[in-house]
Amino acid sequence: MPLRRRLLALVALVLALCLIAGGALSYWHGLRKVDLEMSSAIDVAASAVSDALSTMSPGADARAQVLRLLSSFDGDRHIRVSLVSPDGKLINASRLQLPSDPPPRWLYWLLSGSTRERTFDLPGDLRKIGTITIAADSHNEVGEVWEDLKLKFAIIGGFCGVVLALIYASLGRALRPLEQLSSALDRVGDGDYTAHVSEDGPDDLKRIYRAFNRMAEQLRDSEQQNQRLNEQLSTVQEEERSEIARDLHDEIGPFLFAADVDAQAIPLLVSRQANDEVVNCSKAIRQSVQHMQVHLRGVLSRLRPAHLIDQGLPIAVEQLIGFWKARRPQIDFQTDIEDERFPTAIEEVAFRILQEGTSNAVRHGQPGTIGLTVRRTEGGMLRIVVSDDGSGITAKTTRGFGLAGMRERVASLDGRLSIADQKEGKGVMLIVEIPLPASSGNSNKHEPLTTSAA
Ligand SMILES: Nc1ncnc2c1ncn2[C@@H]1O[C@H](COP(=O)(O)OP(=O)(O)OP(=O)(O)O)[C@@H](O)[C@H]1O
Ligand SMILES: [Mg+2]
Repeated sequence: MPLRRRLLALVALVLALCLIAGGALSYWHGLRKVDLEMSSAIDVAASAVSDALSTMSPGADARAQVLRLLSSFDGDRHIRVSLVSPDGKLINASRLQLPSDPPPRWLYWLLSGSTRERTFDLPGDLRKIGTITIAADSHNEVGEVWEDLKLKFAIIGGFCGVVLALIYASLGRALRPLEQLSSALDRVGDGDYTAHVSEDGPDDLKRIYRAFNRMAEQLRDSEQQNQRLNEQLSTVQEEERSEIARDLHDEIGPFLFAADVDAQAIPLLVSRQANDEVVNCSKAIRQSVQHMQVHLRGVLSRLRPAHLIDQGLPIAVEQLIGFWKARRPQIDFQTDIEDERFPTAIEEVAFRILQEGTSNAVRHGQPGTIGLTVRRTEGGMLRIVVSDDGSGITAKTTRGFGLAGMRERVASLDGRLSIADQKEGKGVMLIVEIPLPASSGNSNKHEPLTTSAA
């Protein structure tokens, strides 16, 4: 059942219960009123009849006196006085004034109560005429209660109708945005994060609508960021692949060709018995193979740094510097690397930070010097610093994948990362601190390796 109908049904039920309680009270009150009125009416009539009977004198007009007494009650609203013969026949009766709008039978039946009647014997000789009976008739009194009830129920019924109409209208207004909200939630469920609800209605609901809009906005932003990161990731992968392809083509290709040429020459030289030249050819082939091996190792270490890290951070950092020195010989690399083994996950993250930090410095800063530091701090943290003396961060917005990736890696180890321009505007300093586990001891500790690679 929709919420609006359910609330209305509840309010209607409460109002109906109030009406029933009001009806029961009115019934009780009416019953008492009719009983009181009829009792007092019959008491007054009884005293009037007995007064009249006591002054009645026997004689020729005795019957006329009795009839006068009866007619003095004509038009009474509650009392009927009757003259009944000794054999029980009705001789005469006063005329009762009945209500113009009589109450319904069921109400009369409910309120009239027991029959109230009194009988008086006529005095002396008049006894033979018969007896006088007075009876209370509650039609008029019940009629008054009926009029009263009709008015009360008309007022209460009108009030209930107005209340229900007002509740119906205001619930409709207040709940209309909830329908919007439900269809907006459906859209979000289907992956459409542009859904928006208008923030109207009562304050409590407004808060929900606002929270929904914020949530949809954040989902929209996250989706856009994911899309962007995915695009960047594929661009980075694409760049990496073409760089490796270029390297293989430029560095391995000529040596393969040279080795092939030298190998082809050997049979001819052998047939000519030019032993010295055969030896030279074999040396040349070995040189080519050695060159290819070195280069292949470089490519492999870029593809699988974990392999590099197996040998420890100082060696991995040397390889990293070797990679960049081959491409940017003018950069001076200053390193200060703790010669100690740390948990593999921490070493891997440390290396990735040094790799991306160096790559950023070279790509964006055109520095003369890059400093790489990995040191254990006294607070039990591993502090990794990549600093350069390049241009500093000039871009207003950072749309790259590198820093975001670094942040995620560092956060996964409960560490912290900060990157800022160095003081006096000379280059950038990237600082990462990762908490070391308590058991990460100094068993394998040597003197820190400090190198300068110019
Ligand atoms: N050492 C630095 N010197 C100057 N600018 C830097 C340096 N490091 C980072 N930046 C700035 O921060 C931005 C974000 O770096 P980030 O590594 O996230 O992205 P990117 O290097 O541009 O791209 P990606 O790493 O995804 O290939 C860079 O675009 C650059 O503007
Ligand atoms: Mg980068």
